[in-house]
Amino acid sequence: MIKRSISAIALALGLAVATLPALASEGEGLASAGTNVSDRASLQRGAKLFFNYCVGCHSLKYVRYSRLASDLGLSEEEVMTNFNFTGAKFGEPVISHMPAEDAKAWFGKDPPDLSLEARAKGVDFIYNYLNSFYLDPSRPVGWNNTVFPNASMPNPLWELQGLQTAVHGEAAPGQEAAVEKLEISTPGRMTPEEFHSATRDLTTFLEYTAEPAALERQSVGVWVILFLAGLTFLLYLLKHEYWKDVHESH
Ligand code: HEC
Repeated sequence: MIKRSISAIALALGLAVATLPALASEGEGLASAGTNVSDRASLQRGAKLFFNYCVGCHSLKYVRYSRLASDLGLSEEEVMTNFNFTGAKFGEPVISHMPAEDAKAWFGKDPPDLSLEARAKGVDFIYNYLNSFYLDPSRPVGWNNTVFPNASMPNPLWELQGLQTAVHGEAAPGQEAAVEKLEISTPGRMTPEEFHSATRDLTTFLEYTAEPAALERQSVGVWVILFLAGLTFLLYLLKHEYWKDVHESH
């Protein structure tokens, strides 16, 4: 009886540890985003960029302003004056004011909600996507992207990054030349290093919105250690119980 309950508790503890979720961030041939969601300053800078350059088109429907304030360590006033340009209430989610019909008419596509984008596509995709826009007069919006070819999104950060143009390789007969590399043809307000760092912050912010619980998981770490210590103790008791039977039967 004791043996069975100790085994059950040990198994439950083991399962609890094993099922702690992990965020997928795999991507083939993509530069690593190098994000760190527990870096609060990076999260705050990323949020600022998001609310200055993205919320005009994209919503974060699973994120409330109030939650942002507490998770990012900001006051209600800071969030409402720096991040909220739509007149939404503190307890309301982040909804873009872009009317869906206008978005369709302008871009031919609805800008998708980005709350869960990092979970759907991975952080490396977002980071590389934001760095891979180039001018392409053949596209309706005038931009193209090597990570997401023919995306209907203009580069929202062109003033910071500058204008990128594609250098094409040799075209095989009857085929379009592939993009070999991208070059900054007109510099922006940031150096390439500063821009990488800014897009990393923005990606970190979207990694957080996709899984706000990831912040809590950092503090769960200490409980995991205590769990494992408890598990070891239970296994020790279990071993003791088994050996007691062995000794009794002799
Ligand atoms: C002018 C409107 C506009 C702005 C501003 C804008 N986007 Fe977009 N975005 C779009 C549209 C439209 C699409 C859909 C593209 C498609 O599917 O072809 C899109 C798609 C995306 C996607 C890919 C979604 C997918 O299909 O996986 C990401 C990621 C993204 N945007 C991030 C951002 C970020 C980050 C910012 C701010 C720096 C931003 N966007 C600013 C219009 C915009």
